[in-house]
Amino acid sequence: MSEFVPVAIIEPFRIRSVEPIRFGTPRERREKLAAAGWNPFRLHADDVLIDLLTDSGTGAMSSQQWAAMIASDESYAGSPSFYRFEAAVQDITGFPHVIPTHQGRAAEHILFASVAERGDVVLSNTLFDTTRAHVEHVGAEGRDLPIAAARDPRRRHPFKGNLDVDALDAALGELGRERVPLVLLTVTNNSGGGQPVSLANARAVAETCRRHGVPLFLDACRFAENAWFVKTREEGQAERAPIDIARDFFALADGCTMSAKKDGMANIGGFLCTNDDLVARQEEELLILTEGFPTYGGLAGRDLDAIAVGLNEALEEDYLNYRIVSTAYLGNHISKEGVPIVQPPGGHAIYLDARAFLPHIPPTKFPGVALACALYVEGGIRSVEIGTLMFGEHATMDLVRLAIPRRVYTQSHIDYVIEVILEVWQKRAQIRGLELTHQAPFLRHFTARFKPIEANSAGDSVGTKEKAKL
Ligand SMILES: Cc1ncc(COP(=O)(O)O)c(C=O)c1O
Repeated sequence: MSEFVPVAIIEPFRIRSVEPIRFGTPRERREKLAAAGWNPFRLHADDVLIDLLTDSGTGAMSSQQWAAMIASDESYAGSPSFYRFEAAVQDITGFPHVIPTHQGRAAEHILFASVAERGDVVLSNTLFDTTRAHVEHVGAEGRDLPIAAARDPRRRHPFKGNLDVDALDAALGELGRERVPLVLLTVTNNSGGGQPVSLANARAVAETCRRHGVPLFLDACRFAENAWFVKTREEGQAERAPIDIARDFFALADGCTMSAKKDGMANIGGFLCTNDDLVARQEEELLILTEGFPTYGGLAGRDLDAIAVGLNEALEEDYLNYRIVSTAYLGNHISKEGVPIVQPPGGHAIYLDARAFLPHIPPTKFPGVALACALYVEGGIRSVEIGTLMFGEHATMDLVRLAIPRRVYTQSHIDYVIEVILEVWQKRAQIRGLELTHQAPFLRHFTARFKPIEANSAGDSVGTKEKAKL
């Protein structure tokens, strides 16, 4: 008899504590969104039915994590919780210096304030928004060098997060190590569609950096998901444990930044690691100034213990398989019906290609924000634009990210999300662009406000017959 292989996605956990979610109506949601300035970030979470705004800090913790939190220690200095955290990070990354921070961007702030200055250039496959902001905050330039396939949302490539090694070599040759404080490899590449980086590419990047005498850092937020993609897609890796693949990545680097809100499976936290004693000392001084004493770094002891357990849970094979398969389930179902998405489906999220979804809305009228608003009004789904609002002139695509919180939603929630997306796809010609009415100088997407463009106004190329819905 052949072995039974189920089609249903089985969440590798049982649920013992539940949170209610509120069903609203499209009319109610349209009012809420108007009051929020047509920016889903500004909505109250209680008014959201399925919250796919981010996978950052929104995961469900395990009973083991809660148990570790109860058994944690809140000493200001030298807490055993810190030493458990440090040991877990060192076991996976191998870095001698582990600096806890309250989240990933605090690690980025300390790193770039310590190593970069005006006129420097930080090279990357793609810098995440907060990372780019911290590079620019010290007067340096962030330059993205993804492989050509990454710029084409429809193109299928198993490792679309890869960095273009020839372009890196040329840029390092032109700029020299004096102007490049480090190269940052983002695994997986969030802004590029949650796409993985292959081990072969990481090795080639590391070799190029070494040849030019420039340190390589990892933005390791989704190191475990990346390891799973390597295991399932890269030749010769299938029999290896995710932790061993992850260790190979860290061994190639001189340090890393990490948001433990992703593959740390925690609700808050992050860290910064380095091999360099001198840099570690400078970073620790800044840490004390901005985050706190080096054995807590802006975190409670209980957070440190949650991360210590979570980092290893994120590497469990059953969990990784469920996570990547269920994200692909969403992507494959909508793509089969013609909805344009970044292919292939990413690890933590599905990215809708808003420029292809809404070709009648030019990038200057924020098609990504307009699509995110439509998903909310139609079905109470909150998502986020990754495009012209987030990156301004640097945006090469307008995407809407549907990020899946870890261990939170079941297959039937995802089936509902599929129904809503397909409904909005049917009604896409009615969706209008938006005009920016307020923006902040940095990271404007968090607080921006908009007004919808009226049906007949210039700047929105839709015909006059369709009635404005947004
Ligand atoms: C790739 C990447 N880097 C850095 C960060 C910043 O982390 P945090 O939100 O913890 O500051 C994020 C958060 O989404 C991210 O996805």
